[in-house]
Amino acid sequence: MSELKNDRLLRALLREPVDMTPVWIMRQAGRYLPEYRATREKAGDFLSLCTNPELACQVTLQPLARFALDAAILFSDILTIPQAMGLGLYFAEGEGPRFERPLRGERDIVALAVPDPERELRYVLDTVRLLKRELAGRVPLIGFAGSPWTLATYMVEGGSSRDFTRVKTLMYEQPALMHRLLQTLAEAVTHYLNAQVDAGAQALMIFDTWGGILTPRDYRLYSVDYMARICAQLRRESEGRRVPVILFSRNATASLEVLAAAGSDALGVDWTIDLGEARRRVGEHVGLQGNMDPAALYAPPARIREEVAAVLASFGHGSGHVFNLGHGIAPDVDPEHLAVLVDAVHELSKQYHGERSFDI
Ligand code: CP3
Repeated sequence: MSELKNDRLLRALLREPVDMTPVWIMRQAGRYLPEYRATREKAGDFLSLCTNPELACQVTLQPLARFALDAAILFSDILTIPQAMGLGLYFAEGEGPRFERPLRGERDIVALAVPDPERELRYVLDTVRLLKRELAGRVPLIGFAGSPWTLATYMVEGGSSRDFTRVKTLMYEQPALMHRLLQTLAEAVTHYLNAQVDAGAQALMIFDTWGGILTPRDYRLYSVDYMARICAQLRRESEGRRVPVILFSRNATASLEVLAAAGSDALGVDWTIDLGEARRRVGEHVGLQGNMDPAALYAPPARIREEVAAVLASFGHGSGHVFNLGHGIAPDVDPEHLAVLVDAVHELSKQYHGERSFDI
């Protein structure tokens, strides 16, 4: 296994000293890049791209060829697990993800089987193995999965939702059945993430996109508790290094302390909280990843640099920060604007590391 040449991401997630703040971007391989659109065209559609290891590897590497990013993230989707469970995933143009066979009752839920990653999700692991070879230790590779709660919302709603009526009805009417579904998904996610580590992933992230639609009490019971179970069962070491785990719940900064106690190394944070405040609240226990407003990338370069500077200043001196957006990059952002962001993070963050980081 080749040695890792740039380990800033892993170090910052573990709050170990770095020379500058590492940066990567959620959805960094995506539609804002013309070369991504070309490869997707070649594949036919998004799902065919995900299931083709060569092409998935190619699009994973595209943003790294353009920008000085400190990490690669596996090109895939959180909905590969429900797809492997037989729900029939498809993407309707302009509508986002949909399932042909959403979960419609107890019978569907008790019939769900935990997929064997090397069988039903082999294409993802093949992509990870291919990527590890192609990356040759340039930057670490992040593997990922959806949180049980977030996966459950898609599986019960049948796709994206505005009001989450079905999944909330299930939760309030049949809590035991809801817990059964989440338990099955937690097992599936655990096996899937461990298989990604075995295949070569060097950090892991769990996307809990819809944790924030729950009351604080239900957030703990139905979202965080299952992420905590997963954290407790993940392989946390590979190739002689710790494999850091990042938990990201969107719109849930009110419960930051609850998430920080779930057993991860770092938390992803959206832009609804000042990063300095997040650090004061949980920075003793976890690293932080985020949290620039993705819409700031629509601004001209000088304004983007100001915004980067503000996020860096908000975190302040010392390690424990991975720069990212508070959510995925939008498809209509000018790629040149991302170049401005990445270069600004590296240039402007040097002052927060080194000797001076001991001042605080
Ligand atoms: O971050 C990365 O670069 C890695 C790849 C990645 C994708 N999806 C690729 C993708 C990751 C980490 C995801 C996670 C994901 N997928 C989440 C959690 C993160 C989040 O955004 O909150 C969710 C909720 C999904 C489900 C999903 N997949 C949705 C809602 C959509 C539709 C989005 C849209 O704008 O149409 C997708 C499709 C998807 N996943 C795309 C990409 C690049 C766009 C597909 C395309 O090429 O048309």
